[in-house]
Amino acid sequence: MNLNYTSSQKNGYLRTRPFSVLWGFEAMNYTKLKGMVDLLPKESLLWKKLSHKIEDFFEKAGFLYIETPYLEKTELFARSTGKETEVVQKQMYSFLDKNEESITLRPEATASVVRAYVENKIYGQKSVEKYYYFGPMFRYEKPQKGRQRQFFQYGVEIIGTADAKADAEVISLVWHLYKKLNIQFNLKLNSIGCSQCKTVYREKLSGFLKNKMLSLCEDCQRRATKNPLRVFDCKNETCQKNIAGAPLVLDYICEACRGDFKKVQAYLKNENIDFEVDPKVVRGLDYYTKTAFEFISGALGAKDALCGGGRYDNLVESLGGPSTPAVGFSGGMERLILAVQSSGLPAGENESLASVFFVTLGDEAEKQGLKIANELRNKSVRCLIGYDQKSIKAQMRLANKEEAQFVCILGENELKLGKVSVKNMKTGDQEEVALQKLAEYFL
Ligand code: HAM
Repeated sequence: MNLNYTSSQKNGYLRTRPFSVLWGFEAMNYTKLKGMVDLLPKESLLWKKLSHKIEDFFEKAGFLYIETPYLEKTELFARSTGKETEVVQKQMYSFLDKNEESITLRPEATASVVRAYVENKIYGQKSVEKYYYFGPMFRYEKPQKGRQRQFFQYGVEIIGTADAKADAEVISLVWHLYKKLNIQFNLKLNSIGCSQCKTVYREKLSGFLKNKMLSLCEDCQRRATKNPLRVFDCKNETCQKNIAGAPLVLDYICEACRGDFKKVQAYLKNENIDFEVDPKVVRGLDYYTKTAFEFISGALGAKDALCGGGRYDNLVESLGGPSTPAVGFSGGMERLILAVQSSGLPAGENESLASVFFVTLGDEAEKQGLKIANELRNKSVRCLIGYDQKSIKAQMRLANKEEAQFVCILGENELKLGKVSVKNMKTGDQEEVALQKLAEYFL
């Protein structure tokens, strides 16, 4: 393979020995790890645009950016996400570091955000903290459409209030965001109750599962005794059939939880937000209490959750902080891209900036072309230039490939007159524009 040779080959000095031999290693094909994805320019424009929109949306709602390390102590996730969850049991990238400490690439961000909140004693500073994050998460899952081993999550957490208004604020934030992005979705809502309701329900569910034990998979048999709610995460069809008639959590929540659930629904109804109450939405992580929700999209096939979230009133305390209620959500960026693409928005769609390609003819124009392009860029015009002094025809072909909306033609004549010929690539119209007015012309 060509890659094995030094760049001096291109310059005419062919080295007789490949790099691999010179450096003493075997030539091999380098491929990415399974379940990891390269984000290439074909999609990265849309990706960037979406991430900016999301961050802007969160900031307008008063959330502040938080960034936590990608690596954390394994124990953090075992304690928060739950030892019996699929995530902790099967999906974590955990390993011993050089100090023989077990560390894990974060499978989700909520545990890390709460760890940071407790470790930095933020609880003493303000009554309510509102954070947002955006970054990679890692889960060793079987890759498929919308499911990767490294994926990006956008999300928010409100820490410090038990007010049902905060639950509604998080849910409506997502609802408005998705509406703004013009994507199709359904909202499923549930309450899984406080820790007391969960204890009552867990016993009821455990009793039901005992009678089904022999028809459940090995994992579910263990879950049935240790953490019965997790049987709802099982992907095994036989298990799913056997738990179809299981008792439902909404029939076991206490009056206070029922009251809070009603308040959340009232806030949503007040904003005309459509939702379906689905008592099977129990979420795959252990820290949830009360409100649980998922936004589902038909565009995603089997992996249909655009995002999920809910309340987690005991997590701060269980990680060493004072008793502090909280609520939040996270969504998968790759799934959002799939949903946006299926809604018909073209990838890389560019709303506000014209894309200009500079075609230059002659040495002086080459020199001035770069200067003028930089002046345009400083005024926020997206501007591309060609290289290697190609013919006008070749430069026009390049402009086409770059999907430029306008081409600026700059030759000796134009330079003398202080003008540029601007061609609209869509209509074919061409006109002369004074150099001083060029930026205004595109904005
Ligand atoms: P989660 O439901 O585990 O919740 O993940 C949230 C979202 O991340 C999913 O709905 C999905 O869009 C995306 N996601 C999860 N796994 C993958 C994967 N393997 N490939 C691609 N996308 C994936 C949480 O992570 C909680 N921390 C949410 C939360 C925040 N709850 C309260 N605050």
